[in-house]
Amino acid sequence: MRTRPLKVALLGCGVVGSEVARIMTTHADDLAARIGAPVELAGVAVRRPSRVREGIDPALVTTDATALVKRGDIDVVVEVIGGIEPARSLITTAFEYGASVVSANKALLAQDGAALHAAAEDHDADLYYEAAVAGAIPLIRPLRESLAGDKVNRVLGIVNGTTNFILDKMDSTGAGYQEALDEATALGYAEADPTADVEGFDAAAKAAILAGIAFHTRVRLDDVYREGMTEVTAADFASARAMGCTIKLLAICERAADGGSVTARVHPAMIPLSHPLASVRGAYNAVFVESDAAGQLMFYGPGAGGAPTASAVLGDLVAVCRNKLSGATGPGDSAYARLPVSPMGEVVTRYHISLDVADKPGVLAQVATVFAEHGVSIDTVRQQGRQDGGGDASLVVVTHRASDASLTGTVEALRNLDTVRGVASIMRVEGE
Ligand code: HSE
Repeated sequence: MRTRPLKVALLGCGVVGSEVARIMTTHADDLAARIGAPVELAGVAVRRPSRVREGIDPALVTTDATALVKRGDIDVVVEVIGGIEPARSLITTAFEYGASVVSANKALLAQDGAALHAAAEDHDADLYYEAAVAGAIPLIRPLRESLAGDKVNRVLGIVNGTTNFILDKMDSTGAGYQEALDEATALGYAEADPTADVEGFDAAAKAAILAGIAFHTRVRLDDVYREGMTEVTAADFASARAMGCTIKLLAICERAADGGSVTARVHPAMIPLSHPLASVRGAYNAVFVESDAAGQLMFYGPGAGGAPTASAVLGDLVAVCRNKLSGATGPGDSAYARLPVSPMGEVVTRYHISLDVADKPGVLAQVATVFAEHGVSIDTVRQQGRQDGGGDASLVVVTHRASDASLTGTVEALRNLDTVRGVASIMRVEGE
């Protein structure tokens, strides 16, 4: 074994960074044996130096991340700061100064992955980011390496633990969105400002990264259609249950049937209780991958948290250190397929539409005609008269597969019917 250690600069020492430092220390001998050389924590860049960091030599702590990265003797920079800047500048500087990079930064990778990969390649460096998507769950490496000989057609996943916790709570207790969010906040699952999670931004960044890697093409954050889950109601869960379904916030990346384009989207959807993703409870994540040769694969585990995310970071650190020792680099950017990303209107799926309608002769025929005029085929219709004496009824229509554009046109036309009092909810039905 080489005795000269590989030097690691840790940028960020919060929930994840402190766990990375702890595991590097407690598992030092095993990591050295697995890598073929010891790894040494050479510096830790933090924002608040006064905070006590158990197990970390205070002499290693600095507030000057740029100077740390520019030291010239750093082999690997581990970036767990998050956000776009200064993380982006620090990573590009790290490449310029000869280091490889391990990052957990989904927002940055989703926004600037192509430029960062190009910078890594220019400097014969590695850029690994297993921790950026679904915490501890091995996903990037399986897609980049294990499935490199296969053709992935679909990636369907629960990639946000906070929203899965909230939806699971609503499903199991009948709670409304706000009540379930309050519990998630009290238990520390939801952040004080939960926007990134509940509005689907976090999941959209992960979908962009997964789609790009799975289909060997460029998928930017702006290419991902996004709807949050704040509008999901207890009534939606009751409707889902009546169909033998539950509701999940899904990230869905698909290759078109003709292989010529891809789509990526994040939105709440009904999935059958028989689908493996339906049984993903609490704050867990799971990703279902469908490919030509392997068939269906499911990856499941903790998608967030200090130690689980650090596990993914450490796995990357070992891989990058091994590459450093062998003088090689691992798999880089693979976007050769150059597939266009189709807009949401071209996505084809099934829909569950809940309408409030007048309960009088001819209304059902009128509604059915609107669906027919837009080329949307109805699978089932369920009508229930309301008990409030107002003469209205609740009409639930489930469609066969149709394009999102056709469905949008249908709903617009339904809203213009005098007999349709309101469109109570529209939910896509997936996983069948
Ligand atoms: N906030 C994310 C989640 C974890 O709830 O899954 C980090 O991506």
